[in-house]
Amino acid sequence: MVDVLAEKKGPTKEAHLILFEKCNLRCSFCHQDHDSTVGLDADEIMRKGIKLVEQSDLEAPIVINITGGELFTDDIPDWMFGYYHALGEYLLNNFKRAKLVFGTNLVYENVWRVERLITMLNTLSDRELQTVSLATSYDPAGRFNPAQRELFFKNLERVGMWVDTVNVVITKQNIEVFLNDREGDEVKDLAYDYDLYFDHYIPSERYEEHQPTESQIRQLYLKLAKKYPLSYPIAAWKKQAFNETTCRSTKIINKDGVVTTCWSEAGKDAVLDEGQGLAAKHAAEERFIEHYGCLSCEYYQRCGLRCFLHHSFVEGSTTECEIKLLFDEIL
Ligand SMILES: C[S@@+](CC[C@H](N)C(=O)[O-])C[C@H]1O[C@@H](n2cnc3c(N)ncnc32)[C@H](O)[C@@H]1O
Ligand code: SF4
Ligand code: SF4
Repeated sequence: MVDVLAEKKGPTKEAHLILFEKCNLRCSFCHQDHDSTVGLDADEIMRKGIKLVEQSDLEAPIVINITGGELFTDDIPDWMFGYYHALGEYLLNNFKRAKLVFGTNLVYENVWRVERLITMLNTLSDRELQTVSLATSYDPAGRFNPAQRELFFKNLERVGMWVDTVNVVITKQNIEVFLNDREGDEVKDLAYDYDLYFDHYIPSERYEEHQPTESQIRQLYLKLAKKYPLSYPIAAWKKQAFNETTCRSTKIINKDGVVTTCWSEAGKDAVLDEGQGLAAKHAAEERFIEHYGCLSCEYYQRCGLRCFLHHSFVEGSTTECEIKLLFDEIL
């Protein structure tokens, strides 16, 4: 398979270990099963790390996202944190150039266990080549009730020094909030203090309700370019003449230990086999770049292209690229 995007994808690999899907929240757009306890098991946690090491190039730089569901809720016993630590240590011992990122919703009381975990893992890391950090999420629509939002900000103050990115999912509901200036003043601080990253919506079961159109996504980006120029991907598009593909070709190790691609995350038409998922992704990439004529586009080097999974659900017949229209306006 010839990959015409090979250079555009860059050298850094990405993996996502989903330790389990149990969670204390019920975000309306989330594609996971939050009552499932599959994977909530110490041996399983370690086996996922071993599987990733066995199937990876250990010399290549890699970002490893480690998430639930929610890993850090108050009902998770202390001994599980011991296994999170053992998993982190094992990964740091094997991947020379690794960024470990624990994903968390920050809605729980027992935040000191998280502080201890990240501090201890950072003391084990090679400061030149490895980091251990947190990623969290903030969605004005579909995520918190008022008490949960309050707890989120209280905890963010405690662990903010380790937080790299704050992710917002581009749902129709979040777009409406931003377009009507109802997201709240706190978002300004989030964009200033962290990498506030607007991420494509993965088609979940409630696709019809949450999926924005391409034009709505462009309207959101236009708004962000004016109001939150430090947010991503806006800031990268403006600052850098070359950007790697938005799609990181992530290797996913699911809650049950099955290795797949992002195509397994589609609540709709999920592909659960890694080979078939890679083939589906490759075909979607080729369809995309041919459809819009990306290789001869003046913005090709600057553009991150797209989440190809997302696009394979929304693609229509028009060959007018909404991202190109956006670049014409904001650059
Ligand atoms: C599944 S969560 C797990 C970590 C943690 N519970 C949290 O919410 O940050 C990981 C990320 O996926 C995002 N996410 C959930 N459902 C999504 C969807 N349908 N499309 C894209 N991202 C989604 C969340 O907002 C979060 O940033
Ligand atoms: S907090 Fe994270 S895992 Fe839980 S429902 Fe929300 S997005 Fe899904
Ligand atoms: S702006 Fe549109 S056509 Fe141009 S490279 Fe990006 S996705 Fe392709």
